[in-house]
Amino acid sequence: MSEKKADIALIGLAVMGQNIILNMNDHGYTVCAYNRTTDKVEQFLANEAKGTNVIGAKSIEEMVRVLKRPRRIMLLVKAGKPVDDFIDVLIPHLEKGDIIIDGGNSEYQDTNRRVKDLRAKGILFVGSGVSGGEEGARYGPSLMPGGNPDAWPHIKDIFQSIAAKVGPDPCCDWVGEDGSGHFVKMVHNGIEYGDMQLICEAYHLMKDGLGLDNQEMSDIFTEWNKTELDSFLIEITSNILKYKNQDGDYLVELIRDSAGQKGTGKWTAISALDYGMPLTLIGESVFARCLSSLKTERAVASQQLPGPSGVKFDGDKKEFVEHIRKALYASKIISYAQGFMLLNSAADIHKWKLNYGGIALMWRGGCIIRSAFLGNIKEAFDGNPELNNLLLDPFFKNAITDAQVSWRKVVTKAVDLGIPTPCFSTALAFYDGIRLNRLPANLIQAQRDYFGAHTYELESNPGVYVHTNWTGTGGNVSSTTYQV
Ligand SMILES: *[C@@H]1O[C@H](CO)[C@@H](O)[C@H](O)[C@H]1NC(C)=O
Ligand SMILES: *[C@@H]1O[C@H](CO)[C@@H](O)[C@H](O)[C@H]1NC(C)=O
Ligand SMILES: *[C@@H]1O[C@H](CO)[C@@H](O)[C@H](O)[C@H]1NC(C)=O
Ligand SMILES: *[C@@H]1O[C@H](CO)[C@@H](O)[C@H](O)[C@H]1NC(C)=O
Repeated sequence: MSEKKADIALIGLAVMGQNIILNMNDHGYTVCAYNRTTDKVEQFLANEAKGTNVIGAKSIEEMVRVLKRPRRIMLLVKAGKPVDDFIDVLIPHLEKGDIIIDGGNSEYQDTNRRVKDLRAKGILFVGSGVSGGEEGARYGPSLMPGGNPDAWPHIKDIFQSIAAKVGPDPCCDWVGEDGSGHFVKMVHNGIEYGDMQLICEAYHLMKDGLGLDNQEMSDIFTEWNKTELDSFLIEITSNILKYKNQDGDYLVELIRDSAGQKGTGKWTAISALDYGMPLTLIGESVFARCLSSLKTERAVASQQLPGPSGVKFDGDKKEFVEHIRKALYASKIISYAQGFMLLNSAADIHKWKLNYGGIALMWRGGCIIRSAFLGNIKEAFDGNPELNNLLLDPFFKNAITDAQVSWRKVVTKAVDLGIPTPCFSTALAFYDGIRLNRLPANLIQAQRDYFGAHTYELESNPGVYVHTNWTGTGGNVSSTTYQV
């Protein structure tokens, strides 16, 4: 009379949770479903999970009892306190070597803390990024697990089998220690903000600069989807642009131009500032959403602040569309190069051993930023796992070189026309910054020393900080040097 045993339990039966359970069930795993409100469990078993092998548990005790050992328990509950609360509830029922996986959108610092606290109790904690929305959860998400590495051998098969696949390869691999899985997910979301803003800038230029209509723009995105830009976001943009409502109007043109955000882009930008990494494109994409949401202020200013007058695009539109495509591609390369710089510096600081090619592959399918392009990034890291600047990889160096003239034309034309392109522009400024051996920061150092005696180094003697009595009135100060 042995009770049916479950391979894994999942707590939290909102849509993501339900879909991951059904996905696991499809792949032959027996899943135990639990939700604090037990009605929800019964409803799920009677409806969505009807005819499957899913087991329902009415209590934590029952859930723990039916699990094979080591127990694998995945949480898909709201980030923050609910995760800590469930961990506290679970702990007394678990034993050494059992595994708790947090599949929610937790902040990586929380995951760092939980991995450490639970390690002390003998419990293996994993924080896994999950991307792809409801559809992805059901049929193949991108999964980014990190945390206590001893957990990986016990969850690898389940995770890799339910993940999206690109050819034979699962979009899921072990990311690294501590909160690195959630950190990688956060950077993914930041990159998603950037990709979306770049597409919006292209749309703005085509619509208001070139005067193209929605069908023309949709067709252009369909064409772009056959090039290096082949990606989920380009594809859905093509569909969105041509979508008409019941009245026969293009729906996108009726939508209020005030962007929302849930905060993961902002967190990426905050980390970039914390780690001193110039993630200018993601930063601009977050600010672009902020500016868009100042709708009332913009309405007032639009009546008063003039733009360039009488400037019209009078060139070859088809040719310019190709320039825009190249500008988008080049800017996107910059954004990903910046994203990997942030991963690199976080890895240094936290002593995570990140597998960058593996991360590119995890993003290659299943998630919102999935694209053919990530396959090229994977190849770049396969070719050189130590690569710390994506722009120096031969493939991307050629790509940027090829796009450069178009990119500059687009930014210049946007400025002439008065169309804001914060991400195209900041990407180009970053490119011009990183490729220059000498920037004007010598003057910043002189100014800092002049007014605050912050000292500077001479090119001829780096590492030695000196102060100059610039005015003849300065005190004999030697401020401690500081780096940002
Ligand atoms: C359980 O179900 C309720 C009702 O659908 C839902 O609001 C809640 O978030 C679910 N999760 C947990 C952990 O209780
Ligand atoms: C975009 O390209 C992918 C293949 O790379 C294809 O599956 C998809 O249908 C294309 N979408 C559009 C709108 O062209
Ligand atoms: C700075 O220069 C002025 C003028 O040469 C001099 O009088 C003063 O003593 C100097 N101050 C220090 C701290 O050297
Ligand atoms: C300024 O400070 C340095 C180091 O303490 C000292 O050697 C030097 O004599 C001082 N100069 C003046 C003008 O007080």
